[in-house]
Amino acid sequence: MGHQALPHPSPGRLHGVRRPGRGRNRPLVAGRTSGRRAVTGPQEHSAVGGAIVSKGSALIVGVGPGLGLALARAFARDGNPVALFGRGAERLEEYASGLVAEGHTANAYQADAADPKALQAALVKAADELGAPEVLVYNAALLAADTPTGLDAQDFARALAVNVTGAMVAARTVLPLLPDDRGSLLFTGGGLALDPSPEYSSLSVGKAALRAYVQSLYKQQQGTGVHVTTVTVTGYIGGDDPRFTPEALAAAYLDLHHQPQGWWQAELLYPDHPAFGPAPRC
Ligand SMILES: NC(=O)c1ccc[n+]([C@@H]2O[C@H](COP(=O)([O-])OP(=O)(O)OC[C@H]3O[C@@H](n4cnc5c(N)ncnc54)[C@H](OP(=O)(O)O)[C@@H]3O)[C@@H](O)[C@H]2O)c1
Repeated sequence: MGHQALPHPSPGRLHGVRRPGRGRNRPLVAGRTSGRRAVTGPQEHSAVGGAIVSKGSALIVGVGPGLGLALARAFARDGNPVALFGRGAERLEEYASGLVAEGHTANAYQADAADPKALQAALVKAADELGAPEVLVYNAALLAADTPTGLDAQDFARALAVNVTGAMVAARTVLPLLPDDRGSLLFTGGGLALDPSPEYSSLSVGKAALRAYVQSLYKQQQGTGVHVTTVTVTGYIGGDDPRFTPEALAAAYLDLHHQPQGWWQAELLYPDHPAFGPAPRC
């Protein structure tokens, strides 16, 4: 079964602002090295009551070939200038150039999410270069196979730095950058938060801690214009199950971003949406 849209406002409306059309015919400048201004296509604009409104940037932390790239493409297609963050400069640059070739605005930023200062600096730089953010997706994770008794203290700390602390640093950095205190902070969780595995111990602890962090942030931000949600992905991404293709998942994030405020919740248990049947817990 393919992805079915979550409830969201009528097309063309985003947070009370008309969504711009796609800018596929914009002039583009080819991407350069990560961390510098790689793409200078003009930002998406729309006229609202005579005023020109730009779409905010989408900051995607943790972009690999799976969900991260699908998220970047989904938000780019929705008209957001997209910032791609990760450690692999060359790969990120390739992804950003690919998006530019498709007619989007995208920049690559090399940063280790486990390094708070580097991550913070990269996020601020992206907001400076691509415009104030509208969306943050924290998608980075350290996928290490380890056992509860076989863990080294340093490795464990490193895993938590990527899986949890980086999410907190990203949220704290991006919150004050949101224009009019409105925007979405979305976090990629995992079923391991609900059903920990003895074979992925640090990731299980990390996803559980991330879920708790996001739920506490959600409660703190309730009543504001900031939409905070963790997407608890309860299956393997990229396998045979069409519910877990990166594209189906990315569409769910986009729907979350467009959900009206009355629907906001701390967690999307994916794919336990009425559109889908019961999901395996992994
Ligand atoms: N794969 C699954 O079956 C599955 C299931 C449930 C949940 N999830 C969650 O879904 C998310 C995406 O998973 P995915 O498998 O589709 O991966 P992906 O989005 O293709 O790539 C994630 C990227 O995160 C980046 N990353 C890792 N450590 C980082 C760090 N310290 N700093 C900056 N970036 C870092 C890596 O890029 P660099 O190496 O370039 O840094 C990696 O390519 C993860 O949060 C994962 O836990 C995955």
